[in-house]
Amino acid sequence: MAFIVGIDGPAGSGKGTVTKRVANKLVLINIDTGSTYRCVALEVLNRNINIDDIEKIIEVAKNIKIDIKPLPEGDKIFLNGKEVTKEIRSKEVTTIVSPISSIKEVRLAMVELQRKMAKGKNVIMEGRDICTYVFPNADVKIYLDASIEERAKRRFKENQEKGIEMSYEEVYESIRKRDENDKTKEIGALKPAEDSIIVDTTNLTIDEVVEKIIEIIKRKM
Ligand code: DC
Repeated sequence: MAFIVGIDGPAGSGKGTVTKRVANKLVLINIDTGSTYRCVALEVLNRNINIDDIEKIIEVAKNIKIDIKPLPEGDKIFLNGKEVTKEIRSKEVTTIVSPISSIKEVRLAMVELQRKMAKGKNVIMEGRDICTYVFPNADVKIYLDASIEERAKRRFKENQEKGIEMSYEEVYESIRKRDENDKTKEIGALKPAEDSIIVDTTNLTIDEVVEKIIEIIKRKM
């Protein structure tokens, strides 16, 4: 039987790193749903589509082919057959992904895809609306949070390690804008489900968060 762990939370809450580690330790398939929206954003850029051309963006979302290959070192993402794991993290994609993910039809197409990806598997799925919308009956529901300053600090460091050029101020402003946009979406807005367990990671190390989450999951397994 399929077992689903949903991890929601804002940018920089530690979702990505923590989910990867928990997936490896508990042998769950890791699905990063943010990367599906990032693929749509990248394809919009690749095709020089204007960000205001909603019809064209919806067409892209409906016809796009996205594959996520979960590997122990992290998901590998393929867009129409080409690997784009690094490209979808660029500043350009990050700038337009939140408004694109606010388009209702884009969300419906991506949610359908995400549900298919998880079908019949034991997964840990991270995103913004996994526990509220994609899998409201998930076996374990967790909401990771942290102060905006701490999240900006983490994302800035992560970008530096990945060679993504953005100043701390740019990262902070990008996160602030995305929070605002993600929390006010018509469907799939970023918020904890009523029965989500909220874990504030501001003063915790990654190891501590991983341990806490494994404990929560094991209680339900
Ligand atoms: O987790 P991330 O930063 O890679 O997500 C990129 C964007 O995608 C984020 O700004 C909001 C959107 N997103 C979403 O709307 N729903 C999800 N389940 C995951 C991401």
